[in-house]
Amino acid sequence: MRLDKLLSHMNFGSRKEVKSLISAGSVRINGEQITKANFQVDETKDLIEVDGQQIIYHKFIYWLLNKPQGVISATEDGRHHTVIDCLHPDDYRFDLFPVGRLDIDTTGLLLITNNGQMAHQLTSPKKQVYKTYQALIEGVVTKETVEAFKAGLDLGDFTSQPAQLWIGEVDTEKGVSKIRVSISEGKFHQVKRMFQACQMEVLQLHRLSMGPLQLEDDLALGDYRQLTQAEIEALKPFGYE
Ligand code: URA
Repeated sequence: MRLDKLLSHMNFGSRKEVKSLISAGSVRINGEQITKANFQVDETKDLIEVDGQQIIYHKFIYWLLNKPQGVISATEDGRHHTVIDCLHPDDYRFDLFPVGRLDIDTTGLLLITNNGQMAHQLTSPKKQVYKTYQALIEGVVTKETVEAFKAGLDLGDFTSQPAQLWIGEVDTEKGVSKIRVSISEGKFHQVKRMFQACQMEVLQLHRLSMGPLQLEDDLALGDYRQLTQAEIEALKPFGYE
C-alpha cells in the first residue's frame, strides 16, 4: 500500500497533510527515513514509525456503540448528528459506517466498522442473525400477543418471520408493558410495525444484542468500546478480519 494512503487511513490527516508529514522526514520504514509519499509499504511486515512511535496498521476497525437518542444511523446528514459523530476525532476514519440501522429514537447496541463484507453477513436475511430489544409498549401484552409474534404477523407488504416475545412487567391500570423481543429480520421500523399490527405502540426501544454481540449495563448511552476477544472469535464466521 502507498505510504500516504496508509497514514491517512491511520488518521494522520488528509492525503495532503500526510504528504507534508512524509516530506518533513517524520516517517521511518524499517529504520530508514522515507520522504516519498508513494513509497510502497508492506503493512503486514514492515516496521512503520512516525516521529519515533511505532504504528500498527489495522485493516478493519470495530466499535460497539451504545447509541443515544437523537442521532441517525448514517455516515453523514445535513440536519442531524449521526452515529459516526459519536466517535472521538482520534477514533474517526472516513470509511466507517454503522452495521444496519436503528431509528433516531431507538437506543442501544450498534456496531460501527469499515468491514463491508462482515456488515453484509450480519445483516443478510439469509444469515438469520437475531437481534434482541427491550421495549416499553403502550398496550397490554398478553400470551396471545406472544403467540401472534411466534406465528408471524401480517405487516401488509410481508409477513414477519417467527419472533420470540417475553413479557416482563405489565401495568394493566396504566395500559403499558415492559417486554423483550428477539427478531431475525431487520426491516425498516420492524419492531414498531409488529406491535402496530397488534394495535399497540412502541414507546421506547433499546437494542440489547445482535448475534454474538451484547451490550452491558455499564456502557453509557453515547459511549463505545472495542470488541472483546470472545466477541472477535464469535464474529470470525461472519468475516471478522
Ligand atoms: N425496529 C424498529 O422499529 N426500530 C428500530 O430502530 C429497530 C428495530
